[in-house]
Amino acid sequence: MTSSTGRIPTLEDLGDLAGKTVLVRTDFNVPLDRSGETVRITDDFRIRAALPTIEWLLERGAHVVCASHLGRPKGAPDPKYSMDPVRERLAELAPGVKLLENLRFDPGEEGNDPAFTAQLVDGADAYVNDAFGASHRAHASIVGPPATLPSAMGRLLQREVEVLEGLRDRPKHPFIAVLGGAKISDKLGVVEALLNVVDQLVIGGAMCFTFFAAQGKPIGDSLFEPDMVDTCRRLLDEHGSKLVLPDDIVGVDASGEFATFGTRLPDGAKGFDIGPGSAAAFSDVVMDARMVFWNGPMGMFEDERFASGTRTLAQAMADTKAFTVVGGGDSAAALAQFRLDDEVDHVSTGGGASLELLELGDLPGLAALRGAPNA
Ligand code: 3PG
Repeated sequence: MTSSTGRIPTLEDLGDLAGKTVLVRTDFNVPLDRSGETVRITDDFRIRAALPTIEWLLERGAHVVCASHLGRPKGAPDPKYSMDPVRERLAELAPGVKLLENLRFDPGEEGNDPAFTAQLVDGADAYVNDAFGASHRAHASIVGPPATLPSAMGRLLQREVEVLEGLRDRPKHPFIAVLGGAKISDKLGVVEALLNVVDQLVIGGAMCFTFFAAQGKPIGDSLFEPDMVDTCRRLLDEHGSKLVLPDDIVGVDASGEFATFGTRLPDGAKGFDIGPGSAAAFSDVVMDARMVFWNGPMGMFEDERFASGTRTLAQAMADTKAFTVVGGGDSAAALAQFRLDDEVDHVSTGGGASLELLELGDLPGLAALRGAPNA
């Protein structure tokens, strides 16, 4: 793994901001509940996480204009992805701050079109990137403005980089990574990178069934990735002593009844969570660590019957004396569901971005800031 060098300017490098207009790229891509008459934000974590930067700029007399994407509209205005619910919440938390319409309503955002960047920076005196969760995307609003405007990383981005680069470049041993979720294919790059630095890599979630298949074990009708079986076999051959797999599984049997299995699932059975023995063993590993990175739930925690593995692990993350970091996305949502989000050292606002920074040691958004005129 190669670490990137070069200084990334911070807010202090922007100089006097009184009366200046600052364009702040935020990641306000928040989960929404559209089931009622009005669209409701179900978790405003990403909006609250940007407040230290916004407040710092306001206190220095700057006019703050925020810009974000929301969801994945296809390069054209779509009322379903309007920023209105976010704008309302932002007005409550930071009155007087402007928020542009969804950046992805313009194809120039994802296409990194210079004409769209020019439109964005028009009237702005400085640019701040505080959108950690989107900094792995080489989109116009992430990589465009630092080419011309004095630029800086915001406080949220700064903290994310410090914490995640610290894990990667200055690990304290035992350093443990716990990965879950459905697909090993989504995380293969980070798995290979982490295997170079961690003492143990604990695997839960449905991705464990691809490893079981690679070991030649029957997995019933559990979710797995046939295309990844050979890769998992290679990982087991090369790093078997570091990989920790579950030794019991909870799920349903062929008749749909709740059941606990060992690591060989009968025909028709489906695994949906790690079993109690594995949850206890994984917790022990976390309790004995000095640094832990966790990304991805241990099972289908949205269903209470299959929440125990993820809950037990989340509790161990809260209880251990280790420095604990939780990747964004589903594991952050699980921590919040169990009300343990204040009990870990760092909850990342970025899912894909945290994995990419751990894997590659850099992100397009960081590289762009290093090239800013004031860097
Ligand atoms: C996220 O939710 O991970 C970020 O906002 C990035 O969103 P994207 O995967 O749609 O680019």
